[in-house]
Amino acid sequence: MKKNSGALLKPDPCQRKTPFLSALKAYVDSHPAAFDVPGHKMGCFPTDLSRKISNVFFEYDANSPYGLDNLYNPTGVVKEAEELAAKACHADHCLFSVNGTTGGILTMFLACLSLKDKVILPRNVHRSVINALIISGAVPIFVTPYIDADLGIADGPSVEAMITAMDENPTAKAVFLINPTYFGVVADLKRIVKEAHKRNMLVMTDEAHGSNFYFSSELPASAMEAGADITAMSMHKNSGSLTQTSLILTQGKRIDFARVRRSYGMLTTTSPNSILISSLDAARKEMVFHGPEIIHKDLVIARRLRKAIQKIPGLAVIGTDYPQHCASTGVIGIDETKLIISVKGLGLYGYDVYKELRIKYNVQVELGEVSVILAIVGPGTGQWQEKRLLDALRGLSHDYYQKNKKRRSLAFSYGFPSTIVPPFEAFDAPSKKVSFDKAIGEISAETIMAYPPGIPLVIPGEVVTADAVGMIRFFQKEGGEVLKDCEPDKIKVIDRTHWYLADEIHMLGHGS
Ligand SMILES: Cc1ncc(COP(=O)(O)O)c(C=O)c1O
Repeated sequence: MKKNSGALLKPDPCQRKTPFLSALKAYVDSHPAAFDVPGHKMGCFPTDLSRKISNVFFEYDANSPYGLDNLYNPTGVVKEAEELAAKACHADHCLFSVNGTTGGILTMFLACLSLKDKVILPRNVHRSVINALIISGAVPIFVTPYIDADLGIADGPSVEAMITAMDENPTAKAVFLINPTYFGVVADLKRIVKEAHKRNMLVMTDEAHGSNFYFSSELPASAMEAGADITAMSMHKNSGSLTQTSLILTQGKRIDFARVRRSYGMLTTTSPNSILISSLDAARKEMVFHGPEIIHKDLVIARRLRKAIQKIPGLAVIGTDYPQHCASTGVIGIDETKLIISVKGLGLYGYDVYKELRIKYNVQVELGEVSVILAIVGPGTGQWQEKRLLDALRGLSHDYYQKNKKRRSLAFSYGFPSTIVPPFEAFDAPSKKVSFDKAIGEISAETIMAYPPGIPLVIPGEVVTADAVGMIRFFQKEGGEVLKDCEPDKIKVIDRTHWYLADEIHMLGHGS
């Protein structure tokens, strides 16, 4: 049985190597006369940025010079660095993504699914998944997630709901899951993988928030440990690499890795940033050797914070007993380094708290939602940040708890519209822009989402409901950032009078 912390099992000394970073440093130290791109020629064209953050950054900004290998057809230091990362994560293969997990998700959909292949997935997926459905032409079978109405967050769907979807769609090619959700909530991935594989379905996962699972046995199982076939995970979010950098990992024989590589090549820049790549090399080494103790330190801080926050009037924080509160919903655990703090007791929205923490207390949390804020403890968190967060939360409680005690109770519920046309068909269909009221009952041709967390409220192919419009208006009014294709007060819907394909379209849930 694989352990999700290879490091705990005495790391392989080979993991001390950082092949790409070492080659990059040797290249910079050799002071070449650069007649290649980029044009700043290793920092010889100073700008305000280089003057402010150090020219060294620019010296290391190389673009595939001789000896630094090639991200598309690696045979040297990139190949070696990717192999070390694969081994560190107990995967068979690894690709470095310089377009985050977004790029990884697009890659895996294009690689694993063909036009009209069915994929079973929870509806609370990130926007990149909706785009991946459009690009691949795959047909989604959405499973409604468990909605925690009290916190106003969506967890995973129950195992039973996933199994039912698999039984009802035996020809589905793949199952897609989130491990964990943005809020750190995990489902029983191992069981779902087993059920999917029994039915000959691939398992693909989004681990944008799960890279730390690979480096500690104190955290839930990683996708590779749970037996998934392919995953994309953001090393940058909680394992120390630079923003934008992720790993695509695969294992087993169900995956055609050559096709994964081809798809990756189609979606990735031909000018990958060498600093980003070397940050993956360096973070992998650090996490292999020190991940267990670093994550243990994070857990100690997070547990201390939980205890203290729980005592602050008006605040509540989700703990390890969360799965018991969500019995039979499929929630089996949480990533304790993520603090989901309910602020309802302050009579404030999470958005308000998010802003006030930043403006008044100089504390930046990950996000504010309707009822909660999310604070993430990571490898770089220390006692001074812990103290500042606690002081700020105490200050907020002092200012608002008594005053707002009798204020409205904040009610909010998620509801997802039904998809009746595959997103790729709706994306291509003729469209028109109409007012919110006129859009109700029409089929959306655009993705509308509140950011963060980036889970779409409406996607192309879904029927726009009064509920969905209510949610869009709510987010616009209450401070959530609403991202959409057209004007803030309009929705792009399919123009059915010009929809020549209408008769041929396979209407989801209405066809054979
Ligand atoms: C659940 C989820 N999936 C995927 C992504 C995309 O990850 P990245 O920012 O690494 O592209 C995010 C980003 O926040 C996310 O929250």
